[in-house]
Amino acid sequence: MPERVLVTGGAGFIGSHIVEAMINAGHTVAIVDNLHTGKIENVNPRAEFFQVDIRDSAALERVFTAVRPSVISHQAALANVRGSLEYPDQYAEVNVIGTLRLLEVARRHGVRKVMMASTGGAIYGELPQQPATEDSVAHPLDPYGASKLACEHYLFTYRHNYGLDYCALRYGNVYGPRQDMQGEAGVVAIFAGRMLSQQPVVINGDGLQQRDFVYVADIARANVLAVDHGSGIYNIGTGVPTNINTVAHHLAKLADYTLSEEHGPAKPGEVRTSCLGPARAMQELQWRSQVSLTEGLARTVAWYREVVQVV
Ligand SMILES: NC(=O)c1ccc[n+]([C@@H]2O[C@H](COP(=O)([O-])OP(=O)(O)OC[C@H]3O[C@@H](n4cnc5c(N)ncnc54)[C@H](O)[C@@H]3O)[C@@H](O)[C@H]2O)c1
Repeated sequence: MPERVLVTGGAGFIGSHIVEAMINAGHTVAIVDNLHTGKIENVNPRAEFFQVDIRDSAALERVFTAVRPSVISHQAALANVRGSLEYPDQYAEVNVIGTLRLLEVARRHGVRKVMMASTGGAIYGELPQQPATEDSVAHPLDPYGASKLACEHYLFTYRHNYGLDYCALRYGNVYGPRQDMQGEAGVVAIFAGRMLSQQPVVINGDGLQQRDFVYVADIARANVLAVDHGSGIYNIGTGVPTNINTVAHHLAKLADYTLSEEHGPAKPGEVRTSCLGPARAMQELQWRSQVSLTEGLARTVAWYREVVQVV
């Protein structure tokens, strides 16, 4: 059934793909974004756009009165692990207080369900057993992961007290078109941008640290499926760990990168392996990743080729 979907962070990397997927699924979409890291050119012209900060309850109230959303896909956040170590209070203000303000307005306006962007990479910490399941103990090692875990707990209380349903989607390492090449989080975006312009790429440490890379269209599809399926916490990953050297080799070939690989010092405190078992999402959301790493990286490099001014 078509719904009125509000996508917070819809001018950002992942949010803009969710907006597109929701519209293609027949939903009516509105976007709330303060353009902190989001870009106006990412705003889908088929969606209504409100330049609003999620911490601003009065502005949210006006948006909800105008849009009357039935479902929210909540992507707006500060999303950088290292940034959170530097500014833990700002991460709590935007990610925790901002989410709470959104939930308060949502429950008052009778919203049915919230899908929240959570994180598999930062919420589990260093697990002895991989892949992580949703029942693995969550011990975030940084304020970013802690802020997302706090949001998951608040979502649980809103379902318990007000019947506001939720899916907390614990994404793996998301990559794809529109990811910021200047950011610190997206290794694929950073490497692709530098390789396409033949600038040296430095791999942190030995490059054998492993991540669960998920193509952004698969993340968007998980949000679309969660409109009608599931309740609670879901890993949205492939269940397949890939090391950074492998990603760099793939990208080098795709980008015709000719310089040799460089390794720098390892980042202290970085998790060695992060991999997310998707069994629950497969069973309850009918979701599984569909885009292989090879295919996803090829699509990503093709997109960066179009937009990067190759010198
Ligand atoms: N990229 C990943 O690999 C990854 C992995 C796990 C989870 N996530 C989560 O997915 C979501 C989207 O991340 P992304 O990678 O697209 O990052 P992004 O920075 O591109 O998107 C975040 C969006 O939120 C907006 N925003 C930030 N603060 C806001 C505020 N106070 N009010 C309104 N809007 C605000 C930004 O302008 C931006 O458009 C985030 O919640 C992030 O924590 C991302």
